[in-house]
Amino acid sequence: MSTGESNVICAEHEKLYKTLDAFIEEVKDKPGVLIEVLHKAQEMFGYLPTEVQSHVAERLNLPESQVYGVVTFYNFFTMKPRGKHQIKICLGTACYVKGAEKVLDRFKEELKVDMEEITEDGNFSLHGVRCLGACSMAPVVLIGEKDFYGKVTANEIPKILKKYRG
Ligand code: FES
Repeated sequence: MSTGESNVICAEHEKLYKTLDAFIEEVKDKPGVLIEVLHKAQEMFGYLPTEVQSHVAERLNLPESQVYGVVTFYNFFTMKPRGKHQIKICLGTACYVKGAEKVLDRFKEELKVDMEEITEDGNFSLHGVRCLGACSMAPVVLIGEKDFYGKVTANEIPKILKKYRG
């Protein structure tokens, strides 16, 4: 059974690599191509593991160290898998003072993961971020790119999570 599953994953990955290669063909002569390709690869794979970086390096005829350098330099690139719903908890000073740590602890407890980890079902991952620019609403939590929650209390968290479950 596990062999079958890994075959499915391989077939899925093969498809992704083919789509990525077609994209690379389209943009390879443009300036700033590496960043553009890495963005596309992260959008497709969800993150940039070393095998994806090697593939990009080979296709663009660049040293792997250069690709790795770019991936680690920009914080919008990640080498770790992220959940379908990324939960970003603001740990800036205002949020911290207003109880962000309690909020974070409750998320960890509910999801059974630590910071920068992904839940077993791949549905959520937990991330600490710096000031989200809404200190008057502290403590704040952002889920995905636009679901913003202000003045969050630990007790509200199960209700918030329920919206994103199944
Ligand atoms: S410190 Fe959290 S929004 Fe500013």
